[in-house]
Amino acid sequence: MTQAEFDTVILGAGAAGMMCAAHAAARGGRVLVLDHAKAPGEKIRISGGGRCNFTNMHCGPHAFLSGNPHFAKSALKRYTQWDFIDLVARHGIAYHEKTLGQLFCDESAKLIIAMLVEEMAKVGAELALQTEITSIAKAESGFRLEVAGARRGVISARNLVVATGGKSIPKMGATGFGYRVAAQFGVPVTETRAGLVPLTFDQDMKAEFAEISGVACEAEVSCAGAAFREGLLFTHRGLSGPSILQISSYWREGEEITVNLLPEQDAFTALRAKRQENGRRDAALVLGDLLPKRLAAKKALSLGISGKIADQSDKRLRAVAEDLHRWRIKPIGTEGYRTAEVTLGGVDTDALSARTMEARDVPGLFFIGEVVDVTGWLGGYNFQWAWSSGWAAGTEI
Ligand code: FDA
Repeated sequence: MTQAEFDTVILGAGAAGMMCAAHAAARGGRVLVLDHAKAPGEKIRISGGGRCNFTNMHCGPHAFLSGNPHFAKSALKRYTQWDFIDLVARHGIAYHEKTLGQLFCDESAKLIIAMLVEEMAKVGAELALQTEITSIAKAESGFRLEVAGARRGVISARNLVVATGGKSIPKMGATGFGYRVAAQFGVPVTETRAGLVPLTFDQDMKAEFAEISGVACEAEVSCAGAAFREGLLFTHRGLSGPSILQISSYWREGEEITVNLLPEQDAFTALRAKRQENGRRDAALVLGDLLPKRLAAKKALSLGISGKIADQSDKRLRAVAEDLHRWRIKPIGTEGYRTAEVTLGGVDTDALSARTMEARDVPGLFFIGEVVDVTGWLGGYNFQWAWSSGWAAGTEI
């Protein structure tokens, strides 16, 4: 059995792990990154439709959910979106803003992976892929790991950094392993659930909404005090699109979401103006001026609108407008980790140092990235948390 000694072993060659490795090795220590996957940064590769939404220009603590909303502040402030943008620019990677401050590579997400691998190689951080961690134990001065696969043997390290991500997309190797490591060392983990995920309907609602499957529109979706104005998509299973993915992180089973189908205008004023313009028009068709046609037809049917627009009283138009602005929908669930972009909850921030990500009661044990109970909005925020938390641990080790 081979034996090796490192200053720092990082579990997980994802966004946070590679960032941490580059900074930890830059400080002179011997650093090894272990991953069971065939290639590093697999989630980076598929992110942003293959273009990686690597950060957001408006990044700040407001865009994160956590048991302690203050926890992320320190790392986000010390390694900002502008620091990462600088790094991307230094590597000559072209990028653009798509919308709402979201920065994407012009060409390919693979360039971000290549950049991180290069940053690690430059400072001598080692990478061992296709390697399984079979056991972890506390040793006299650090940790002792048994590993199998491509790099088999015993590895000891002064510092152990857990960067194995969350449970989302098990098909890509997500295991929830980091939570088990936390439990092994007595580090508490908060309840985890799927985030940034489509919402689903029960059978009756699926049947009711079947005719508008595929319809997309802009909407403001709100729940539990949060609201997002972005695209909404009706699917054959339920609801999707950016506004729904965003609100899914706030939604809890049993709750309703409120959909404002016309966030940009006052529906009552608009409908009254249409009535004034041409009272002979069919009221259901008038709705089609304001909403996608299939959605308008469904709304007309469910609201019982028929006949000419001139025949609709103010009271009636007000009721229609109220429904368009405050449509309440009760999803039955989410699509779960199978399609979720992130895992909400995770390693309890109360048990970690906000400055270094080190476990307060286990010196030398660090948790970074998605495994921690810090979850960003859709739009590059989750990668920024990976970069910032990876940097915070890497520069402290
Ligand atoms: P990450 O999951 O990246 O890395 C964990 C690593 O640990 C993996 O390499 C894995 O193989 C390894 N690992 C896990 N268990 C292990 C074990 N037992 N043994 C050894 N290795 C193990 N965010 C964003 O900001 N912008 C975006 O565009 C997108 N897009 C996006 C698309 C899709 C489809 C998904 C699923 C997610 C996104 N995200 C995103 C979210 C983003 O991918 C996520 O927040 C980060 O990848 C988290 O980085 P980590 O390094 O913490 O985990």
